Amino acid sequence: MKDFLECTALITGASAGIGREMARQLAPLAGTLVLVARRMDRLETLRAELLAINPELRVQCRSVDLSQRAEVAALCDSLKEESLELDFLINNAGFGDSGTFESSEWTKIERMLEVNVVALTYLCHSLIPLLRRYRPGAILNVSSVASLLPLPNLGVYAASKAYVSSFSEALRAELRGTGISVTSLCPGPVDTEFQSVAGRAGDPERKHAPDWVKVSVEEVARVALRAVSRDRARIVPGFWMMMAPLFFALIPLFILRLFFEAASRNEAARLASRTA
Ligand SMILES: NC(=O)c1ccc[n+]([C@@H]2O[C@H](COP(=O)([O-])OP(=O)(O)OC[C@H]3O[C@@H](n4cnc5c(N)ncnc54)[C@H](OP(=O)(O)O)[C@@H]3O)[C@@H](O)[C@H]2O)c1
Repeated sequence: MKDFLECTALITGASAGIGREMARQLAPLAGTLVLVARRMDRLETLRAELLAINPELRVQCRSVDLSQRAEVAALCDSLKEESLELDFLINNAGFGDSGTFESSEWTKIERMLEVNVVALTYLCHSLIPLLRRYRPGAILNVSSVASLLPLPNLGVYAASKAYVSSFSEALRAELRGTGISVTSLCPGPVDTEFQSVAGRAGDPERKHAPDWVKVSVEEVARVALRAVSRDRARIVPGFWMMMAPLFFALIPLFILRLFFEAASRNEAARLASRTA
């Protein structure tokens, strides 16, 4: 997928953050955008914004809760019934949960695994036949730099993204030569609604990443789309984030474990001081 001209792209999580910005950057090039998220009002607002600037564009809005398997299956069935000429699948929807695993709410963990892992996998499985029909095609799976390391206090999220990165690499190899490319996007911290969704009620003073490691949502979307057009396997936007995995790869695992344990102890002490 070289230039996205007249492409039909499906973007999950298009109502906010990185997904919405990808829709904005694809709009001048694409023929059809299928925008998926739960908040239909947000999708309709985005649709109006995109059509005002790109009157030729076709935009479909689909309200789907990706944590509900029946809704994800219904979305895929309807796309097939309509014979949507899909050539670009962007699995972007996802969320985190910050805090210790023991104190997490099971329902939030379960929804996170459904959205970050099950829905993403199902969409690939169900829609690859459509992508094959209209190749060349592309899949962009939004992972995270957190996929590259275990992260205490964000443990299930990081593990779910490790799945996304690993699965994307394997799928890329399997689809080599079929005309469908697979790219995984591994952003570091980006200012979106992600932080508030991952946060827990009553824990407003949780530390956020320093500004110097953050990358803007515009830059993340731009770098990701360029990586897809160049058929890159994995892209980590931002200089410091690109360096981080290389740096951590040089550190022996036993030292990293000491670091993880210290981070966990600090978190426990912080929570204890709040409740004291
Ligand atoms: N921001 C960061 O620091 C960061 C870093 C690394 C990776 N990422 C990854 O980047 C992706 C996009 O995140 P973001 O930063 O743009 O966060 P965001 O601003 O919170 O956007 C998340 C998007 O996912 C959608 N979504 C969440 N749960 C959903 C559900 N059950 N069903 C359907 N859609 C759902 C949301 O739509 P509705 O709420 O309307 O359903 C929203 O459009 C995620 O996969 C995230 O893990 C983010």
